[in-house]
Amino acid sequence: MSRPIHALIHLDALRHNLRHARHMAPQSRAIAVIKADGYGHGAVRVAHALAADATLFAVASIDEALVLRQGGITQPLLLLEGPFEPAELPLCAEFGLQITIHHRCQIDMLERWTAPQALPVWLKLDSGMHRLGFALEHASEVYQRLAGLPAVAPGIRLMSHFACADERDNPFTRQQLTRLQQLGLPGEHCWANSAAVLAWPETHGDWIRPGIMLYGASPFAHTTGADQGLRPAMSLNSRLIAINRISRGEAIGYGSTWRCPETMDVGVVAAGYGDGYPRELPSGSPVCVGTRTVPLVGRVSMDMLSVDLRTHPGARVGDPVQLWGPQLPIERIAQAFGTIPYTLLTGVTARVPRQEQHG
Ligand SMILES: Cc1ncc(COP(=O)(O)O)c(C=O)c1O
Repeated sequence: MSRPIHALIHLDALRHNLRHARHMAPQSRAIAVIKADGYGHGAVRVAHALAADATLFAVASIDEALVLRQGGITQPLLLLEGPFEPAELPLCAEFGLQITIHHRCQIDMLERWTAPQALPVWLKLDSGMHRLGFALEHASEVYQRLAGLPAVAPGIRLMSHFACADERDNPFTRQQLTRLQQLGLPGEHCWANSAAVLAWPETHGDWIRPGIMLYGASPFAHTTGADQGLRPAMSLNSRLIAINRISRGEAIGYGSTWRCPETMDVGVVAAGYGDGYPRELPSGSPVCVGTRTVPLVGRVSMDMLSVDLRTHPGARVGDPVQLWGPQLPIERIAQAFGTIPYTLLTGVTARVPRQEQHG
């Protein structure tokens, strides 16, 4: 028998979540963000599941795009950071990739390239996040320069990213939007990530660009995906591989960080930081054994973790365990660890087999 940990990918949940995004932004076309191997769910799998409802898929690099092409994905693909070097441009043309242009060095690449065919371009504007993109005062000049290049297909589109859309009370999203609206540049535009899709309808525009919501997790602190009408697309599941009776006062795991307050049953689960389950999770973090939620005890090790079974006397070796998923919202684990669902989902390691659940 193989090690029991696996990530179950709920294909129907992925489809439901994209439909929900489109329902929230009915006038917009959807760019499904499937970078970082579809936020850990398997980009090819996610793209196949969403092919009917997504107009475009967005990835972080040409390598990620080529994996999708090799996986039989024929939809247009967008490189969110554009080309990193000139040698990528012919591949973009060959494989039907759309490119983001966020820096003058990329315009120089396009200028020097004798293009067999013009590439669709998204001009990235920095409206206040100050990560990637052209300062708004240069937007018009850059747009004109791009529009004059043979390597650039007609119909340049505009893209920008919000810094604080996950904070519903933060006025900065509206300020970024106003700056973008005041530009008055022609072309279709795409501003909204998941948080903006869910919380800022005025930002939706021609296109939306949801990522995390497709996977059923909430972009907002202190809420779950279910609160937003989403369904978890991943269950991280394993099993109890041992139950040991440990005496009062004895300590559990590396560093002896947790001691049994009484003689008790401690369960051992085949899941650890080598699978992407965070080592930093404190004792008391929730783990679902069967249908009961029980506390993690002691340090998470590479391949195993321990749980306090005092409230679950019926637990047996072999019982199913859910680390996160429909029974245990990933947001609860993220909060216990002081992080966000994005890092947990993208952190599930390659040794964890992904299995598909249809329906
Ligand atoms: C440029 C860009 N657009 C869209 C997204 C999707 O954001 P989210 O996953 O918050 O919806 C990301 C994610 O990091 C991004 O970097």
